[in-house]
Amino acid sequence: MSEIKKKIVVLASGSGTNLQAIIEAIKNGNLINAEIVIVISNKKDAFALERAKNADIEAVFINPKNFTNNTDYDKKLVEVISNYKVDLIVLAGYMKILTENFINAFANKIINIHPALLPDFGGKGMYGKNIHEAVLKSGVKESGCTVHFVTTKIDAGPIIAQKKVPVIPGDTVNSLSKRILAEEHKLLIEAIKLVLNRVEV
Ligand code: GRF
Repeated sequence: MSEIKKKIVVLASGSGTNLQAIIEAIKNGNLINAEIVIVISNKKDAFALERAKNADIEAVFINPKNFTNNTDYDKKLVEVISNYKVDLIVLAGYMKILTENFINAFANKIINIHPALLPDFGGKGMYGKNIHEAVLKSGVKESGCTVHFVTTKIDAGPIIAQKKVPVIPGDTVNSLSKRILAEEHKLLIEAIKLVLNRVEV
């Protein structure tokens, strides 16, 4: 008897390759008893919205310009997401800081993927190229990616899964970020499985 599918909401601001990894995992049976019920973006031109539409998933742009502040914006987010009995909210390259109200409204149900080995190379200002530039500048021999629960402290929530990725001499921001992104796509699926299959104690 097929179980009721767990409902996933994805928030994304960019190209959406991590979103695509979830879409593919569901399609190819690697992620079972789960469905993405809606993809929401704060960027009208986020390719993640195209990816959702191409997969017949509801894709919604919520325009920050229509709100006076983050609190009101996140109230709208809560309102839209509350239409579903959401089991998991995945931040897949979501480039907007979430307010405490939002995080508390979905406590322990929000995860984020970060392209570094947290707690290193995380926190304010550590996103995108900045991360890989800092990693290369530091001279560390390995970087990687992390999936963690989202709390009110940026990039500091409980870690769910991590994958180390070597830094190769001569690496550029581009070569390193590509190598890590390929691992992110796998790690994110494993982390979603862990969270959706956890036993509530
Ligand atoms: C990924 O590197 C992710 O770790 C970071 O933003 C990027 C999103 O990439 N949070 P994509 O939009 O999923 O391709």
